[in-house]
Amino acid sequence: MTDDTFTTPREPQLIALNVNGEQHEVITEARRTLVDVLRHELRLTGTHVGCEHGICGACTVLVDDRPVRACLMFAAQAEGARIRTVESLADGSRLSDLQRAFSEHHALQCGFCTPGFLMLAEGFLAERPEATKEEIREVVAANMCRCTGYQTIVEAIDACATARRRACAQACHSKEN
Ligand code: FES
Ligand code: FES
Repeated sequence: MTDDTFTTPREPQLIALNVNGEQHEVITEARRTLVDVLRHELRLTGTHVGCEHGICGACTVLVDDRPVRACLMFAAQAEGARIRTVESLADGSRLSDLQRAFSEHHALQCGFCTPGFLMLAEGFLAERPEATKEEIREVVAANMCRCTGYQTIVEAIDACATARRRACAQACHSKEN
């Protein structure tokens, strides 16, 4: 590496991020985390920051469809990837099926952890639409909630998965007839 290609952690650099289907250009220091850039530069404050060292999962977003702790990733590392935050779930004021399931099953109290759980579940169900309740229970253990206990969160995700499977089966059935 030559001197003119070396970037120090505090040196501002231009990075391009694709977030929720929109392209953004941000000038930021190389050392800044993805969650900081999402919240402070793009004002997407739905993604929360708890522990800042990869334990709580409050900062979970999807990067190329996979749940990622945004406090553990540099924003610059996300260049070229598709990032989805909790803001991508609702369609205007219409909540997504997963968000409605959380509401209907009382899967939150203070709501601080909720964006992280929603994005964790969104990524997981896209990959495992057939997930069992046991698998859901294992997955949500990755994130921390200090209010609800996990039972209602598991129930909400399971209800959403069941409804999606039912809708998918009905769509296939009506195609066949
Ligand atoms: S804030 Fe990222 S894991 Fe806790
Ligand atoms: S609802 Fe309060 S931390 Fe989870």
